[in-house]
Amino acid sequence: MTIKKAVFPVGGMGTRFLPATKAIPKEMLPVVDKPLIQYAVEEAYAAGIREMIFVTGRHKRAIEDHFDTAYELEAELEAGNKRALLDLVHSIKPDDMDCVYVRQPRALGLGHAVLCAERLVGNEPFAVLLADDLMMGHNQAAGGATVLQQMVQAHERSPGTVLAVQDVPRADTRRYGVVDVRGVDTQLAEVFGMVEKPAPEVAPSTLAVAGRYILTPAVFESIRRQPRGAGGEIQLTDGIAALIGTEKVQAFRYAGTRYDCGSKEGFLEATIDLALAKPELAEAVMAHIRRRLAG
Ligand code: G1P
Repeated sequence: MTIKKAVFPVGGMGTRFLPATKAIPKEMLPVVDKPLIQYAVEEAYAAGIREMIFVTGRHKRAIEDHFDTAYELEAELEAGNKRALLDLVHSIKPDDMDCVYVRQPRALGLGHAVLCAERLVGNEPFAVLLADDLMMGHNQAAGGATVLQQMVQAHERSPGTVLAVQDVPRADTRRYGVVDVRGVDTQLAEVFGMVEKPAPEVAPSTLAVAGRYILTPAVFESIRRQPRGAGGEIQLTDGIAALIGTEKVQAFRYAGTRYDCGSKEGFLEATIDLALAKPELAEAVMAHIRRRLAG
């Protein structure tokens, strides 16, 4: 069974990027020329998903507007015969893609956000994408599979929960959901335990969950049964962990790069790398970096 729906939890406050995120959602911050949320939506679309479910909150209207028609802008471009720009604007929401929105009334955690999408997802496996994590599949620009595409393929081969994982320095385990797997060398490994934001001393491994998940509908009931977890929040990690033993939970080592755009460092790394990947910008950006390095 293929994955038809993707959930984008976009209700968070984005306090790490204040003052930039005072009046605009953090998911609308652009990397080069595209907002973070559009990268995530394009990744889901490339994986064959056509129904995008946004779990939003107050002050998130800009996201809805971004995936809606912009009459004035389009009329102006049309009148000016600016075909290329018009196509660019239209391409944000292809005709065969549906966007639906549900509000998360209170910021109670990622697990709670996913739960808000339950009725829209229904009884089928689905994807979750955290737009803060900008994922670039290996060789993606040259036609290589996106990270979610790789995960959908893994799910087709071996149904069940699929979590994108990457190795992180042990000192950083406190920032992630961390999985316990055996047979670490395989690309798709069975998960035997999972814990949210463990201290380095007690982390079961250094394999951290990146912001891409393929989940089964059983996760909803499982999240509902969990008490508040790390940070006093209803954690997605706890809901998934409670499924282990009942359902197959798997860790997938994706081929690609994750940019943690929830942090300033990661955001700047993404900006530099993606600018360098654009032929029209690469030379000027590189020349600037060289001048800086030369002092
Ligand atoms: C969330 C998840 C965590 C995961 C991370 C990936 O944490 O709770 O398990 O490893 O995303 O980015 P957050 O970054 O929202 O604190």
